Amino acid sequence: MDSLSTRWRHNILESKIVLDERGLLGEFTLQQIEFKVKRIYWVYSKSSQKRGFHAHKELHQFLVVLEGRIRIVLSDAQCCQEFQLAPGENLLIHPGVWREFVACDGDATILVLASEEYRESDYIRDYDEFVRWDNEVF
Ligand code: TYD
Repeated sequence: MDSLSTRWRHNILESKIVLDERGLLGEFTLQQIEFKVKRIYWVYSKSSQKRGFHAHKELHQFLVVLEGRIRIVLSDAQCCQEFQLAPGENLLIHPGVWREFVACDGDATILVLASEEYRESDYIRDYDEFVRWDNEVF
């Protein structure tokens, strides 16, 4: 399990963005990501629809907003931190953090690079259970 300080070491890592009259091209390198990527998935999130509402026990994630804008709140049992992300602003999320996010300016598409394969047992989906787990583990 990661230490408390590691848990809150969320970084916004910027992508290179090339904009021209045809549209946009974004680039990041795998070197920017601190973990070995085992899974890539994407989320299309309709405007104003809240998603997330869970924590992961082991999983590290790297969020890349491809289109739209999201507001994401990360929290532990004590405090929380809010980020607004648009294309070019990627967020590294470590395990042990409750997350809620919403597409806040139209629909959004998010690419997620993950350190582990999908495993439902890695999720905590109930906030009270998360607080109990948080108090036990950290
Ligand atoms: P979930 O992680 O709860 O999405 P969000 O945090 O955006 O609300 O996943 C939504 C559903 O998709 C849930 O039933 C689990 C399933 N799922 C997979 O089958 N594979 C995956 O890689 C992921 C991330 C989710």
